[in-house]
Amino acid sequence: MPNVRFLPIDRSVHVRPGTSLLDAARRARVNIPTRCGGQASCFMCKVQVESGPVSEPNNKELSKMGELHLTGTRLACQAKVSESDVVIELPESPLKLAVRKLLAEQQEGKEGDNI
Ligand code: FES
Repeated sequence: MPNVRFLPIDRSVHVRPGTSLLDAARRARVNIPTRCGGQASCFMCKVQVESGPVSEPNNKELSKMGELHLTGTRLACQAKVSESDVVIELPESPLKLAVRKLLAEQQEGKEGDNI
């Protein structure tokens, strides 16, 4: 069974081919937020496929994501594990992102005071 590795938390799980990345995450006890229950409508389960093949985007995903899948960004509820290992990068949580932005702005302000 292929291995699915989730970064940056570095947690892995073996799943059967055809398992969605969202189900693989759940089995690995990795939290990927969802609001639509895997119906490809909330857009909250976006992940980045770092390496390894996953299924081609289906029509639902294509209609939501457009060409974004070409950059490796996929909906975890729609992309399925193939026969090979895959590495998935999880997005930073919105709260962490907001805190990091705020800290960076404060740092810029301090540096600006020194000029
Ligand atoms: S779970 Fe809502 S789009 Fe994937």
